Amino acid sequence: MRVNASVRPAHTLQPVSTRPDALRDPLANRGTAFSLEERERLGLTGLLPPQVEAIETQAARVLAAVRAKSAPIDRYAYLAALQNENETLFFRTLIDNLEELLPFVYTPTVGQACLEWSRIYERPRGLYITPRERGRMRDVLRRWRRQEVGIIVVTDGGRILGLGDLGANGMGIPIGKLALYVACAGVDPGLCLPVMLDVGTDTAAVRNDALYLGVRAPRPATAEYDELVEEFVAATQEVFPGALVQFEDFANVNAFRLLARYRDRVCSFNDDIQGTGAMGLAGVETALRLTGGRLEDQRLLFFGAGEANVGIATIVVAALQRAGLSAAAARQRCWFIDSKGLVTAARTDLADHKRPFAQDHAPVADLPAAIESIRPSLLVGASGQPGAFSDAVLAAMARVNERPVIFALSNPTSKSECTAEQAYRATDGRAVFASGSPFPAVSLAGRTVLTGQSNNSYIFPGIGLGVLASGATRVTDDMYFAAARALGRQVSDSDLAEGRIFPPVARMREVAAAVATAVAEVAHAQGLATRSCPADLAAHVRACMYRARYD
Ligand code: NAI
Repeated sequence: MRVNASVRPAHTLQPVSTRPDALRDPLANRGTAFSLEERERLGLTGLLPPQVEAIETQAARVLAAVRAKSAPIDRYAYLAALQNENETLFFRTLIDNLEELLPFVYTPTVGQACLEWSRIYERPRGLYITPRERGRMRDVLRRWRRQEVGIIVVTDGGRILGLGDLGANGMGIPIGKLALYVACAGVDPGLCLPVMLDVGTDTAAVRNDALYLGVRAPRPATAEYDELVEEFVAATQEVFPGALVQFEDFANVNAFRLLARYRDRVCSFNDDIQGTGAMGLAGVETALRLTGGRLEDQRLLFFGAGEANVGIATIVVAALQRAGLSAAAARQRCWFIDSKGLVTAARTDLADHKRPFAQDHAPVADLPAAIESIRPSLLVGASGQPGAFSDAVLAAMARVNERPVIFALSNPTSKSECTAEQAYRATDGRAVFASGSPFPAVSLAGRTVLTGQSNNSYIFPGIGLGVLASGATRVTDDMYFAAARALGRQVSDSDLAEGRIFPPVARMREVAAAVATAVAEVAHAQGLATRSCPADLAAHVRACMYRARYD
């Protein structure tokens, strides 16, 4: 039977045509934690179940719901939906369970999420800027829901983890990185802006996917591309003056050029090059606490000569120069292999970022042969080539070193050069190992070895917090140096005894506070801070940290 609206009784409540703002804004929403008084005041009475819950109860429900899902991508999707609904609860749960939940918010699951982005997409988050917005990018930025922005993480999707050019599907990366800023460093989520600078993709399979959400065009030529990036960067500084711009997962053909162009012009950095560099230096120096050598006496073999490894080698060279070596002598300790083989002076095909590291050496047949000839004490993989550190490679490292140091940095897990288990087994448990994505503990002859996660997530959140806490106008090499040393100091002797050369993920917030304090100190010392320097900088930094509470 149809009900005639005109005969509704007069006392019927007026229907709510849209959800009240308090429930729609994920930064304001408290869901079942709204008090009865708030529900009355905000027009929410009847729109929520009657129980008024504490955030701890809500978080317990979230955790149980996450654990009830077995597929990592389902956990990712559940948490993403929660973030879009109630950010305070999302971050409360994440902060209290970092070690357990980070793999579903970031690597490795974020890799799968990007691969499946066009299928799992539900709601927009962040801004999408395309060549259609040329000439009016500042207007698009002004459309952002917040007037104040402190950190912008931008990608063009050109090199998403080790998965290649995924175009607009790479939006999971800036969203994930910013979640780490908040969870690990306590950056206020209201200050975070993820951006997809979608200029197209050269991956035909992505473009031709019927559900693809991005620009269906190949990437533009360099001149046009640079104009788009220039307009974007200028617009960020006009609309959000002083905002930190983090370049993330750009292909290396663009990344090094953009870093050189913007690092001294705006408060910006490239996380894959500089953030990874600082993390790598900390990892190398901490590994030496276990192996007993001096940095000056090491030889590093980098497998993969892209952003990550060149970033590490660059800061290692700076560290060696601080230790008294000439630039040339320092570079001689860094050897590279790329997809064409050993990076040697005789090669004519080297990109600019590889040339400083070209060595005089005959070509080598393969990685084990390179190890036998160069006799590196550290082997660092950032090649996106899974299995590249075969048993033969690992055994060669074990032959030339009592304690071979092996980093398999490639993400996600499916791209790792080797697993923790492989690294320890092939070296009779002698390896000092760390990996970009997490691996479970390994049982070896009755003992359990934990592996460190060598990920730049130990660095960039603290860089951002340090910049915000000091109001720094630039991100300098000295800040990265200080960040690396601060990270190293966070690794305790008991961490080392357990096999970790990075602190446990559960201690990320302490690490970020220490890194941020070191960065802010440099900002003040270099005259780059726009805020006055408090007497107790470390306490000030900690006081700046968001704690995901409703009050
Ligand atoms: P990139 O594209 O700049 O460099 C990749 C390098 O690997 C290139 O030099 C290429 O020539 C080399 N390569 C490719 N195939 C090879 C082969 N068969 N043999 C030897 N070399 C080969 O990429 P980027 O930014 O350096 O990243 C590489 C990997 O490192 C990715 O998987 C990325 O997810 C990971 N990464 C990890 C980080 C961490 O914090 N753990 C941070 C940044 C990157």
